[in-house]
Amino acid sequence: MTILHIDSSISGENSASRAVSRSIVDRLRAQTPEADIVVRDLVSDPLPHLTFDAFADGTVLDEFLGADTVVVGAPMYNFTLPTQLKAWIDRLLIAGKTFRYTETGPEGLVKGKRVIVALARGGFYDDGSPAASLEHLESYLRGVFNFIGVEPEFVAADGLAVSPEQRESSIKQAVGETLRLAA
Ligand SMILES: Cc1cc2nc3c(=O)[nH]c(=O)nc-3n(C[C@H](O)[C@H](O)[C@H](O)COP(=O)(O)O)c2cc1C
Repeated sequence: MTILHIDSSISGENSASRAVSRSIVDRLRAQTPEADIVVRDLVSDPLPHLTFDAFADGTVLDEFLGADTVVVGAPMYNFTLPTQLKAWIDRLLIAGKTFRYTETGPEGLVKGKRVIVALARGGFYDDGSPAASLEHLESYLRGVFNFIGVEPEFVAADGLAVSPEQRESSIKQAVGETLRLAA
């Protein structure tokens, strides 16, 4: 059992997505103490922007494919994912490895992998809310992981910029949700 822990917030110890992703990993570790944990911090150890040469280096892809469970800390920056996280995603969507095109359309090739995403957003983006059309974080990550054959689970801390009280209660609620994650 291998757990891959990805973080992408620039806010260090003040990061909500890091607090929630850490809680998820702690929960999984408690359930499977024998698991190997691989940590990739995309801020302290950033991946360069994608180039053609980067495709030849399969380290990031192999690390992803080798994990049974992947936990991703994903803050919302400018309505979408941090570019650090995008650089990681850019190394996962590889035709012939994680998806392929067939006569009936694209087919995801990643089987049996669990992906849990800890979202942290300053506002609220629920269906029907004024800002819903600007939600390009959860929707993007769901689309990307679905495309390669994975149905991701999400734990969200929302409204973090609304007030200090809202921030505290949203993080508490999200961490509480992680305690109920199935083994
Ligand atoms: C550079 C930057 C851009 C942000 N852009 C948005 C945004 O477009 N929409 C939003 O709801 N919150 C936005 N926020 C607020 C963050 O989503 C919020 O602070 C959240 O806590 C970030 O996660 P983190 O604490 O793990 O870094 C932004 C924050 C930063 C630092």
